[in-house]
Amino acid sequence: MLHQHLIDLSDYPVTWWKKIIELGEKIKENPEEYAHKCDGKIMATLFYEPSTRTQMSFQTAMIRLGGQIIGFDNPANSSVSKGETIKDTTKIVSSYADILVIRHPLAGTAKASALTADCSVINAGDGGHLHPTQTLTDLLTLKIEKKTLSGLTIGMCGDLINGRTVHSLCKALSMFDNNKFIFISTPQLRMPQYIKDIIKANGSTLEEVDTLEEAIGKLDVLYMTRIQQERFSSEAEYLAQKNTYVLDHRKMLLARKDMIVLHPLPRVDEITVDVDDDSRAMYFTQAKYGVFARMALILTMLSEDKSTQLLRGKVYDGIKCDNPRCITNQEHYLPKSFRSGGDETLLECEFCDERKLI
Ligand code: CP
Repeated sequence: MLHQHLIDLSDYPVTWWKKIIELGEKIKENPEEYAHKCDGKIMATLFYEPSTRTQMSFQTAMIRLGGQIIGFDNPANSSVSKGETIKDTTKIVSSYADILVIRHPLAGTAKASALTADCSVINAGDGGHLHPTQTLTDLLTLKIEKKTLSGLTIGMCGDLINGRTVHSLCKALSMFDNNKFIFISTPQLRMPQYIKDIIKANGSTLEEVDTLEEAIGKLDVLYMTRIQQERFSSEAEYLAQKNTYVLDHRKMLLARKDMIVLHPLPRVDEITVDVDDDSRAMYFTQAKYGVFARMALILTMLSEDKSTQLLRGKVYDGIKCDNPRCITNQEHYLPKSFRSGGDETLLECEFCDERKLI
């Protein structure tokens, strides 16, 4: 049986995202109306990587809809510790639950899971790749707080190479009219080229700068990110980037009165606590709106009778993905499936989107 999955928001038309955002707004205004919409349903959360907001907001969302939850947040306490594959864990848990939410440190894992699942799968973050439900949360926050998803100048600051939240959000916001992106990072942490290509192909503009000070006064939205220590190959490389960008009360004086500050959280030291009391600091509200976004998503996924096509490309003889952090290099039974760039010399891994020339 085929199921509907949310692996990448780009698999859906913008009309579908808008429908979820509109539903999220309705739920925020009148949550009690939705209190029994998932009576009798079970959601499984499989978190192979730490999480506070995503895991608990999904669980809260299902409980507020009247459903129940199962799952693990420490794979060491499950049979994963005995060597069970994503394929087998998914097969079993998806026979217990109506919807499965998965987070994993390797890119492409949610898609790998969906390939064998007997229920809908939602990507709750796959390595440094994508985080589509954070994006729905961010879009809902922008819609509520800025009243629009178009014509915005959005600054993204910090670890743009490893930040799956900014990758998903750029892909999404570039689908709306007249959005401009200003990327604020060191040369080592720049936004990946494939994301910049998507932004340009969608008709949005982008600029890259080195300092917060040169961008902050132009922004409608400042999206801060954490330098993701766990994605660096050495402590020395991380320490070289740590504390490069710190938003504090003094820098906020340079920003417009109506700029809002978002952050997917957790923060480490990139926003000082003196910003928290500024009415433009919207990151705690953003995390709260995550429950409404996920309630809307769960309701939509469980109510639609659709299926998601997971693989569209093909397997090429002897070709494998070059990304060591791609799930296809850990779970070897997975098809090494690639999309072709047209002339078949440029291939794109269907699990992690890494490109290779052949
Ligand atoms: N924003 C986010 O993904 O937070 P968690 O890692 O706490 O889930």
